[in-house]
Amino acid sequence: RSYDIAAVPGDGIGVDVTAEAVKVLDAAASRHGFTLRWTEFDYSCERYARTGAMMPDDGVETLSGFDAILLGAVGFPGVPDHVSLWGLLIPLRRAFSQYVNLRPVRLLPGTTSVLAGRRADELEMVIVRENCEGEYSTLGGRHNQGQPGEFVLQEAVFTRVGVERILRYAFELARTRSRRVCSATKSNGIVHTMPFWDEIFELVSADYPDVEAEQCHIDALVARMVQHPDRLDVIVASNLFGDILSDLAAAITGGLGMAPSGNINPERTHPSMFEAVHGSAPDIAGRGIANPVAQILAGAMMLDQLGEAEAARSVETAVEQVLAEGRVATPDLGGKATTEQLGSAIAAAV
Ligand code: NAI
Ligand code: MG
Repeated sequence: RSYDIAAVPGDGIGVDVTAEAVKVLDAAASRHGFTLRWTEFDYSCERYARTGAMMPDDGVETLSGFDAILLGAVGFPGVPDHVSLWGLLIPLRRAFSQYVNLRPVRLLPGTTSVLAGRRADELEMVIVRENCEGEYSTLGGRHNQGQPGEFVLQEAVFTRVGVERILRYAFELARTRSRRVCSATKSNGIVHTMPFWDEIFELVSADYPDVEAEQCHIDALVARMVQHPDRLDVIVASNLFGDILSDLAAAITGGLGMAPSGNINPERTHPSMFEAVHGSAPDIAGRGIANPVAQILAGAMMLDQLGEAEAARSVETAVEQVLAEGRVATPDLGGKATTEQLGSAIAAAV
């Protein structure tokens, strides 16, 4: 068996952590008797600075031929963040109908939560973020620029199809876990889109009488994630709310260096794309000290999606083993190891 994988390391620490993920995934593939055929692409802010585009005109078409995409992170000082987001990530997520952004978190062995006294089983949860529409929209504009009456409008787009499919995905996922779904909205302040989401949530939840369905205001939910995370498991939210919740969920478990993410096309009509939750971290880029675990675990999610569940478990077990031993740890984990040393230790454990 072999799979064609596109690697897009991107910028900053994305490059370092992707190299380690490739190393670990190759070790898992060779142990489990298949091959990953990698093709690397330079789509990045660095490319934008050189050519004026994050990716070439045929970038989407080129990537569409792969079985999966492993993306590092994009973002570079001097290049506005909306360029990297709208020039690469959002077009890919939308062109490939990767409407689920799946962001599981848990407390890994050998690490502690910033929430003192919390056990690992109380902190295991997954954010199901809507990934193709919602608040991330270019509709709107700036009016009366420079005048006293200046104002801006920013529209959000929620379609019935888009909301229903992400909610169904969350309920289906809950059936494989705790059978609990919490939906995050803000229907008291945002009077069109959020009540619409709540209404569809009610409809969909009726099809899942075996799943406990709960609706929360986003502000109350963030407080609860810190104070009482134990009753939370599957959390489903819009594009913006899901993005914010996933950084918080990462922060209360092992930190951003440990949180993987998958941009999933559940129907498998297009490739899915896997990446760490974190960005290109310009503050530590170029020093070789980024934690590669998030990207390696994103790689394990990719193996699962490819149907290589045993190889995915090998990668997760290797990560757990190396973290539990604690001898090789990057600075964010309290150690002195480099990105390369931690990646190599995990590859050796595989
Ligand atoms: P960030 O996630 O890059 O960094 C936030 C903080 O976490 C920094 O202090 C960083 O050093 C630390 N951190 C992140 N990953 C780490 C790792 N693997 N090991 C150790 N420490 C780690 O977020 P920030 O600073 O807001 O964004 C930096 C750039 O990344 C921006 O240009 C932003 O647009 C971009 N970005 C790109 C994403 C993507 O490509 N999917 C996602 C988020 C941000
Ligand atoms: Mg984010």
